[in-house]
Amino acid sequence: MAERIPISRPSFGAEETEALRHTLASGWVGMGPKTVEFEQKFAAYMGVEHAVALNSASAALHLAMLAAEVEGQEVLTTAMTFVSSNHAILLGGGRPVFCDIEADTLNISPQEIRKKITPTTRAIIVVHYGGHACNMDPIMELAREHGLWVIEDAAHACGGLYRDRKLGTIGDMGCFSFQATKNMTTGDGGMLATNDATLAARVRKLRWMGISRPTWERFQPGKPRRVWMYDVEEVGFKYEMNDVAATLGLVQLAKLEQANQQRRRLVERYREAFAGIDGIEFTPAKPYACNACYNAVLKVDAEIRDELCGFLDQHGIDSNVHYYPNHLLPLYRPYTTRLPVTEAQWPRILSIPLFPGLRLEEQDQVIECVREFVAGRNSLRHTAQN
Ligand SMILES: Cc1ncc(COP(=O)(O)O)c(C=O)c1O
Repeated sequence: MAERIPISRPSFGAEETEALRHTLASGWVGMGPKTVEFEQKFAAYMGVEHAVALNSASAALHLAMLAAEVEGQEVLTTAMTFVSSNHAILLGGGRPVFCDIEADTLNISPQEIRKKITPTTRAIIVVHYGGHACNMDPIMELAREHGLWVIEDAAHACGGLYRDRKLGTIGDMGCFSFQATKNMTTGDGGMLATNDATLAARVRKLRWMGISRPTWERFQPGKPRRVWMYDVEEVGFKYEMNDVAATLGLVQLAKLEQANQQRRRLVERYREAFAGIDGIEFTPAKPYACNACYNAVLKVDAEIRDELCGFLDQHGIDSNVHYYPNHLLPLYRPYTTRLPVTEAQWPRILSIPLFPGLRLEEQDQVIECVREFVAGRNSLRHTAQN
């Protein structure tokens, strides 16, 4: 039987295995020298002053909300995201205020942000959906005008650009994910990037129990020997990255540009294949965005989306919906509001397989399957109309 085509698959090679072998043999697998090296290389790649390595983007978003002190205040956000973005607001004691999205990019709309700013707005979370940049110039202008923090959820956007700037480095804090399906992965992991030394220091402390001096620093040769001594300045979390994850991160970071180029080539192949087919829209490409191409999203008629998902499944192809809008979830009912564009778009979207190791013959199979299904639906529609 032919192998199923997954929606995503990590790309690991001999380099990862070799690097892990060294770290395991070193005898230090907790947060330590590899984590520090990964932070430095990530910060250099992104062109930011500070990068703080964490065990997930969910942790980064949570700590960003604490550092931005959103408690009791409003945070403008999108419903078209993984729940982590919005759980972070609740965990920080803030109130999510959902803004509608742009129909084509599925990113938060700057016009909506403008409409929803109130005197109690404290911050804006933007999610670069699928790796395609939000329109950051008008968003940053509004934020500066009203004195708001901007937190970029760059979970999908590692290596993507807005104009010539790396996504996750334009706002006050950028939150990256290295979860299993992401453009670069450490199994699970995350990073918070910022140019603000005060924010970075706070996040560094909160990531490890609120302790002022982490274990690895205390055990450095030449440091005072009272290694058990540290201050606990506030209640923090167990959110730090470890050296096993950081070892993978270092190798994956070195391969990121190449992997993203391959993602972009595959997305262009999809774009060409679906161009001009009645009933299919494909991931947009705005002139200001160099897409990190985390996912490939088709849009079809809402009535046929679920059937297309089932048809692909029967043909051994995985697909998924990113996302069920958060404002419709029972947890978010107290914050719900009408979001006409989000509500019209989400029933139409379907993410199809995209990862650097997707073979061209596998991609052709996906393309053929989608075409066959949509052509069948189109001819049924025409027959019914005549
Ligand atoms: C948009 C978005 N934000 C945040 C996250 C959370 O990332 P992590 O799994 O690293 O916590 C994800 C993960 O899928 C995501 O897609």
